[in-house]
Amino acid sequence: MTEPVVFRMGIPVLDHSGKQVGTLEQLVFHETQKKIVELVVRELSGLRRLPMDLVSEISPSSIHLKKSMNSDGLSKWPIFHPEDYEEVPSWFFPPGAHIEIGALVTLKPCDLRELGEDHAMSRRDFMAKSTVVVASMIGVSLVVPIGGYILTATQTKVVDHWIDLGINLNALPTDTPISHPFFGTSVSGWMKVPVSRSVWLIHHSNPNAPDSKSEDQIKGMDSPLELKNSDPRITVLSPVCPHLGCAPQWTPEQKEFICPCHHSIYQLNGNRVSGPAPRPMDSLPVRVSKDGAISIVYEQFVVGIPKKVRLS
Ligand code: FES
Repeated sequence: MTEPVVFRMGIPVLDHSGKQVGTLEQLVFHETQKKIVELVVRELSGLRRLPMDLVSEISPSSIHLKKSMNSDGLSKWPIFHPEDYEEVPSWFFPPGAHIEIGALVTLKPCDLRELGEDHAMSRRDFMAKSTVVVASMIGVSLVVPIGGYILTATQTKVVDHWIDLGINLNALPTDTPISHPFFGTSVSGWMKVPVSRSVWLIHHSNPNAPDSKSEDQIKGMDSPLELKNSDPRITVLSPVCPHLGCAPQWTPEQKEFICPCHHSIYQLNGNRVSGPAPRPMDSLPVRVSKDGAISIVYEQFVVGIPKKVRLS
């Protein structure tokens, strides 16, 4: 029988030479991949996220990192922002690992992260409140058809409407991505919540150039609505990295999108150049009116898998 892997919080994290670089604080669980993907390590400047593939050995008294770890210690690894994460309940823990209650966390859904704690319900609050509301609605079942109601209440609907971004195509520079913020609506059952979003807009100087489209756009959307990116002059990319959900940034010097978390690199059109991301950046449907007004459909997709699958 294989021994369970024991993660003890507070134990030293050592580099390949045996030097302590920090202490283990928490573990990050990936809900889609169903595995621990990152260590949260406390060092002098705060908390850092280290990918699990840097680990060479885990023992109950220490964690050893591979030689490939950055020679500058942990300073190049992304900072851990606790407000973006929530605790994983113990019944969800991966089998074969001993983890303290409260030590395993996972990324909050994007809507909640973008809103911040003051404005959003946590997933747990949402479930608790949903239960109360469903129970009270069952109490008035004489006036509400229960089957139809529960179906609506428990499904998270895709927000499948076109959103006017309030920006004109002619106002955009060409071949330089612009991060454009806007307000959308997140719909979960009966809840409609205003959320602040952003997308990358890329106005092509030559829409007929072979590389103006990403593989993702050429394949088209895997969408029940069969929405396709319909205007060749512009590409709209989701701000969410398809690896594990961080936010790739445009670097004008390299003319590439670079994700700060695990260094996935993407071209101007969203195609993957290198790194662990399993697919190109996700493109979104876009249309441009006769006078140049840009509208999009904002959607989110499952991260960490090669296929583009809409979150629903
Ligand atoms: S989240 Fe890992 S490379 Fe972007």
